[in-house]
Amino acid sequence: RESALMFHVNQQPVHFEGDDKATLLSVLRGELGLSGPKFGCGQGECGACMVLVDGRPQTACNLPVWSVQGRQVTTLEGLGTPDAPHPIQTAFIECRAAQCGYCVSGIVTSAAALLADNPSPTREVIVLALEKHLCRCGAHTRMLRAIEQAAG
Ligand code: FES
Repeated sequence: RESALMFHVNQQPVHFEGDDKATLLSVLRGELGLSGPKFGCGQGECGACMVLVDGRPQTACNLPVWSVQGRQVTTLEGLGTPDAPHPIQTAFIECRAAQCGYCVSGIVTSAAALLADNPSPTREVIVLALEKHLCRCGAHTRMLRAIEQAAG
């Protein structure tokens, strides 16, 4: 169904007109040209497409765009800028917490939401917060360390 929707992405208003069954991920990457959220499984199972909707992590590949009407969407691009990166982004760089990097956008996004809720999570809590994310390389330990470093 053709619909006109209004929502915010990275604090900018977005007016979307088109098929409201389109996924949020296709709108973010297509119409809006945001390459942070990645397409992995397309079924809500790998976490590569993770974004925040009203501050909560959501997989964008299986979220119809109509469901974000009136809501605030944040992608990796909205967490920080090259001049003022989010502490998680800084920690990932300093800890070299990426190998191929495909999963990192989603993991950084979930980790940012975690630290916003809980500034001092234990390693168990971090692992639990990342349970929706798949990484096929060997960077898990460095990612956990980076998140702990960002948490201070
Ligand atoms: Fe969305 Fe895998 S691409 S969860």
